[in-house]
Amino acid sequence: MLEIKNVSKHFNNRKLKGSAPDDKEVLENVSFDVETGEFVSIVGPSGCGKTTLINLIMGLDKPTSGEIIINNKKVTGVGGDRALVFQENALFPWLTVQQNVEIGLRVRGLKRAERKRIAQRYLDIIGLGEYADYGIHQLSGGMKQRVAIARSLALESDILLMDEPFGALDAGTKNVLHGEILKIWKKTQKTIIFITHDVEEAVLLAGKVIVLGYAPDNIKEIIDIPLEYPREGNDSVAEYVKYIKDVMARSAK
Ligand SMILES: Nc1ncnc2c1ncn2[C@@H]1O[C@H](COP(=O)(O)OP(=O)(O)O)[C@@H](O)[C@H]1O
Ligand SMILES: [Mg+2]
Repeated sequence: MLEIKNVSKHFNNRKLKGSAPDDKEVLENVSFDVETGEFVSIVGPSGCGKTTLINLIMGLDKPTSGEIIINNKKVTGVGGDRALVFQENALFPWLTVQQNVEIGLRVRGLKRAERKRIAQRYLDIIGLGEYADYGIHQLSGGMKQRVAIARSLALESDILLMDEPFGALDAGTKNVLHGEILKIWKKTQKTIIFITHDVEEAVLLAGKVIVLGYAPDNIKEIIDIPLEYPREGNDSVAEYVKYIKDVMARSAK
């Protein structure tokens, strides 16, 4: 359903006013496909272009060359078929939990009762059904990230993009949310693209791991992980983790 075709992204920065612009290649000729309902992780070191790639898929920025195709249509801007969960929680602190979840629905012009129904549905799914009227400051870090997930789910997009969504959470909270996100994936049958710099997290969650490195050789490996869930404590997973770690150690410069 998602085709990344020979996508390159260069940034032209001028270090000093009047100086010649740098041509910084961040993504070079990146190609891969994602099937409907797949859970794909993209793992790679800081600065290799993961967020840049997400921005291109979201339609927030344009490739320098190449194209991104979703359901046979070229991406030319943002669209209702995609929703994004950011790393840093980007909630509005002056709004309640429910108002935060409703925000995209408000933008879409949905009526109040309808917004409330949808927000409640996704707050229930993510385990915050009883916190609808709470203020954001009353929530833990993990709960805030749940609200951010509920807000993206409420958009009912085909594709859910997650950019290091659990990066700032402690290990225990992260574990719980890993279980939640897998449950949501099964329940909603969404296509999920999950960005992380954490190899174990990638292997724990995804059916396919794309190992990204620095340009011009961005795609280091595409590795299928045909293992049952849950995967914690499974010996064969340890082998996968070791394998991917080896690959990354060799690829990261
Ligand atoms: N708007 C921009 N202008 C110039 N350089 C950028 C811009 N966005 C990202 N970059 C550069 O592109 C590289 C990749 O950034 P990013 O995609 O955020 O990496 P990652 O998410 O993998 O850590 C970095 O070197 C960053 O400085
Ligand atoms: Mg990033």
